[in-house]
Amino acid sequence: MKKVLITGITGQDGAYLSRLLLDKGYEVHGIVRRVALEDPEHRLWRIKDILGKVKLHSGSLESYASLFDVVAKVNPDECYHLGAQSFVSYSFEDEFSTINTNINGTHYILSSIKNKSPKCKFYFAASSEQFGQVKEVPQKETTPFHPRSPYGISKVAGFDLTRNYREGYGLFACNGILFNHESPMRGYEFVTRKISMGAAKIKRGLSKELRLGNLEAKRDWGFAVDYCEAMYLMLQQDEPDDYVIATGETHTVKEFAELAFKHVGLDWKDYVKKDESLFRPAEVHELKGDASKAKKILGWQPKVNFEGLVRMMVDEDLKRLKK
Ligand code: NAP
Ligand code: GDD
Repeated sequence: MKKVLITGITGQDGAYLSRLLLDKGYEVHGIVRRVALEDPEHRLWRIKDILGKVKLHSGSLESYASLFDVVAKVNPDECYHLGAQSFVSYSFEDEFSTINTNINGTHYILSSIKNKSPKCKFYFAASSEQFGQVKEVPQKETTPFHPRSPYGISKVAGFDLTRNYREGYGLFACNGILFNHESPMRGYEFVTRKISMGAAKIKRGLSKELRLGNLEAKRDWGFAVDYCEAMYLMLQQDEPDDYVIATGETHTVKEFAELAFKHVGLDWKDYVKKDESLFRPAEVHELKGDASKAKKILGWQPKVNFEGLVRMMVDEDLKRLKK
C-alpha cells in the first residue's frame, strides 16, 4: 500500500485530495496543528467524515523538528505540500508571518524529505498569484513572475526551492501552478465563498447586503476537485516537471456576483455594496491560464465550468442554511 503525506490536510484542497487518494487505495497521513486535535469539531470540519480513515500527526510549518519527525516516521512515497497561510489580503497585514511560514515551511519539508525519504515524490502548491502584474495573457509555465503581495513572493520562493531541490539534489519535485479553484468547502474569507454564502443568506432573509472590494478583478476560476486530480497526475509521471492548471476562461468578481444572485432570483445591484476598505494595496488585475502543457502531458481536463461552479456553491450554501 502506497503511503502519502499531506500538509494542509484540513484545508479545502487537503480535504478533497485525501478523499481522492483514499479512493485510490493510499494510506493517507496528514500534518495538523496541535490545536486542531484539541478542537476537532471546529478545526477538522472538512475531514470529519474521513477521520477514522486518515492518520493525523501534529506538526507546524514553523518547526523544522516537527516536520522532520513526521517525515522520518511515515517515510512516505508521495508528499503533497499544501499547507500555507493562503489568504492574500491577510499577507499584506502580516507579511512577516506569511513569508516565514510559507517559505520556511516549504524549505523544512523539502530538506526533511531529502534527508529521510529521498525517493518520495514531492508536490508544491505553487500559485497563479506568482504572475501578479502579468507579463502576458494567458499565463503559461514560461511567463515571467511579478508577484504583487507578500503571499505571492512566498510562493515564488517556494517554487524556486522546489525546482532547486529537483535540479540540485535530484528529488522528484513538481510545482503545480494552480489558478484559483473553489468549491463548497472554500474558506469564507475568499471572494467566491463570500458571494455564494452572501447571496444564500440574503435569499433566506438572514442578511440585507454584501460588501465587496474590487469588482473588476478578473480570475480564472475552476473547481477544486478537478485541480486535485491534476496534482495527483503530476506525481504519476516518469519525470518531475512544473505545470499550469487553469480553465482558460476569465471572469470578473462582478460577473461571479451577478450569476450567484441571479441563481437565487435576485438582482446583485440591489444588494452588493462597494467597500473601498476591502481593496488591496496592490492588486492582481487579470489572471487567465493556459493549461495546454497539462492537457497534452497529463491528459488533464477541467470538468466543471464557471456557471456550474457558481451554481454548485450557491446551492450548497442554501442547503447549509436550511439545516
Ligand atoms: P486553505 O484552505 O487555506 O488551507 C491551508 C492549509 O494550511 C490548512 O490546512 C491550514 O491549517 C494549513 N496551515 C496554515 N498554516 C499552517 C502552519 N503554520 N502549520 C501547519 N499547517 C498550516 O488553502 P487551499 O485553498 O486548500 O490551498 C492549498 C494550497 O494551495 C495552499 O498552499 C495555497 O496557498 C495553494 N493554492 C491555492 C489556490 C486556490 O485557489 N485554492 C490556488 C493556488 C495555490 P489550519 O486549518 O490549521 O489553519
Ligand atoms: N477575499 C476577497 N474579499 N476578495 C475580494 C473582495 C472581498 O470582499 N472583493 C473583491 N475581491 C477581489 C480581490 O481583490 C481579488 O482580486 C479577487 O477578488 C479574488 O480574491 P480572493 O478570493 O481572496 O483570492 P485571490 O485571487 O486573492 O487568492 C486565491 O487564489 C490564489 C491563486 O491565484 C487564494 O486561494 C490564494 O491562496 C491562491 O494562491
